[in-house]
Amino acid sequence: MQFLREELSKLHGHHAREERRHDSLLLWEERERTLSSHSNNKTFAFLKPEALQSRVAGEVLSRLERKGFAIKQLRLHNISRKEAETLYTVHKGKPFFQELVDHVTSGPVVLMILEGSNAVDVLRKVIGATNPQTADPGTIRGDLSLSITANIIHASDSLENAKKESSIFFHDGI
Ligand code: CMP
Repeated sequence: MQFLREELSKLHGHHAREERRHDSLLLWEERERTLSSHSNNKTFAFLKPEALQSRVAGEVLSRLERKGFAIKQLRLHNISRKEAETLYTVHKGKPFFQELVDHVTSGPVVLMILEGSNAVDVLRKVIGATNPQTADPGTIRGDLSLSITANIIHASDSLENAKKESSIFFHDGI
């Protein structure tokens, strides 16, 4: 009898533990679903041609992952002039526009959609100032470039632009 009681109590303990495990799994799945369904946790970025030419694409992706971003989409792509002009339409008429379009169409780039809390702002901080000569050391541009045109990575500066820019390259955008 005593033996049976002990066995039953062990079984109850096991069930209670299994239930708790199941509950925390459900909570985790719910959290993941909530995160994915909020596009304000996503942003658009691409590695410019020099990142691949100088073999730092892996390092940059590694930094982004170590920071905590999840890579939701990733694609090697040759940007057409039309796509580049659409992407940089706000810079049309500025003195650096042609050079910029020439540059981003000069070789393959790596397009991506990243996910993480406050993705737009955090990614902009991680990549650093537009001009790598003034970007803080420790940022991607601050560590890996000296050229304002070849500044390794582009990242959208607002959620609105992330939606617009990602939709140029990804059917379902962000
Ligand atoms: P990006 O984040 O891709 O957005 C626009 C790009 O224009 C910028 O990075 C730079 O590579 C490029 N650019 C070149 N000259 C300038 C400039 N004087 N001011 C701002 N952006 C510039």
